[in-house]
Amino acid sequence: MFSYYGTKKKLAKHYPKPLHDIIVEPFAGAAAYSMMYYDHNVILCEKDEKIYKLWKYLQSATEDDIMKLPILEKGVSLNLPEYKDNYRIEEIYLMGFYLNPGSSQPKKSPGTFCSWNESTKKKIVEDLPKIKHWTILHGDYKQLDNIEATWYIDPPYQSSGGQYYHHGNKGFDYQTLSKWTLERRGQVIVCENLGSDWLDFQPLINLKGQKHNRMEAIYYIENNIPQIEIPMITKQIQVEERKLNIDPNIQIIKKDLTVSTSVKEEDWFDILAKEL
Ligand SMILES: C[S@@+](CC[C@H](N)C(=O)[O-])C[C@H]1O[C@@H](n2cnc3c(N)ncnc32)[C@H](O)[C@@H]1O
Repeated sequence: MFSYYGTKKKLAKHYPKPLHDIIVEPFAGAAAYSMMYYDHNVILCEKDEKIYKLWKYLQSATEDDIMKLPILEKGVSLNLPEYKDNYRIEEIYLMGFYLNPGSSQPKKSPGTFCSWNESTKKKIVEDLPKIKHWTILHGDYKQLDNIEATWYIDPPYQSSGGQYYHHGNKGFDYQTLSKWTLERRGQVIVCENLGSDWLDFQPLINLKGQKHNRMEAIYYIENNIPQIEIPMITKQIQVEERKLNIDPNIQIIKKDLTVSTSVKEEDWFDILAKEL
């Protein structure tokens, strides 16, 4: 619903279709993949407060809110009091992203390729009802629950290009993201440039740029059921003992039990009880 640096708007149709009703985009940006399958139960998470606020604004905006927004002449700035004093900060962001399409931050003045015009406003209005039922969260991707879903994971690129976001690739821990990604339950789709090394990426599509060509890459697992060890198993069993009324003097010797994350946490009790 807004123009954004690194958006997958043109590429969204090349990724596998969602196999689950829930789609999670832990690195939301302009969420082009979710927009394509907007009627799903979409969960967005975004660390950049401006992007988060813009989504929340769009979710509650009315046709009038959008249609009343002014069209800017070349040379004027959204910093002028007539704009900044009369419009919400989210409206300034929305207009700003269209003033210079493909930017990672909203701009203040119309650029050469400005696409903020009446037909853009009408297109946004058409899209408003599509996102009303979405869940939009502000924060870090790691805070998300590991639900069974279609996980569309599009972080800042590890290599060139990923540095332009407010929260970009500088200091970003790709090894932690790699481990976290492999633990996701369900369908896992990951976007990167070919050559990035934090997962085994495969070529998806060759993109022709003005100066250079580059290969968009994908890492894909259709039905990920990761095997994890129950953390701090001894402590876990002590809790179970009370719940199951097992004699606390019973010595627990089985410490290396592993369960699939497809098992719900509450079902662990039953599995442990059978093992004892
Ligand atoms: C490549 S863009 C996503 C583009 C999106 N797929 C689209 O179609 O527009 C990556 C996004 O991740 C956000 N981001 C960076 N670090 C993050 C983190 N730790 N948690 C959540 N979002 C983060 C950036 O602010 C940026 O908006």
